[in-house]
Amino acid sequence: MTSMETLRQIVVLVHLVGFAVLFGAWVVEAVGTRRQITRLMHWGLAIAGIAGLILAAPWGLDGDLNYVKLGTKLVILLVIGALLGIGAGRQRRAGAVPSALFWGIGVLTLANAAIALLWR
Ligand code: HEM
Repeated sequence: MTSMETLRQIVVLVHLVGFAVLFGAWVVEAVGTRRQITRLMHWGLAIAGIAGLILAAPWGLDGDLNYVKLGTKLVILLVIGALLGIGAGRQRRAGAVPSALFWGIGVLTLANAAIALLWR
């Protein structure tokens, strides 16, 4: 592996940490009874998003990037961010997150991981 390829794999690892933090924080709430939006979810999304944007540039690679796939993931990431923002606002005002918003966050996070792995 060249050093560029190694560096790219390290950014992929950071990207996976972001996914783990976002999805893990969501699972804790889904399995428990609170179903709240937590700050860790925002952190996970920010980490996955920044690392994802760095990975969306073609460096440390042999092949080509699938920009349709990456654009789809970016749109989904923005929707998750909107759901987190709207949900956090509702939580502050009403004390609870509408369940469609809460479940949407988990389903769309898993959808982005599935797209990453299954859409080649
Ligand atoms: C919540 C949002 C996201 C989640 C859960 C997610 C999840 C994942 C996962 C699980 C992988 C590893 C797949 C593998 O090993 O090939 C991955 C890879 C990758 N992700 Fe994301 N991702 C997200 C957002 C983004 C965004 C916004 C971008 C860029 C626009 C992006 C770009 C990439 C790239 C370039 C890779 C490297 C492998 C590939 O080309 O598919 N991701 N992502």
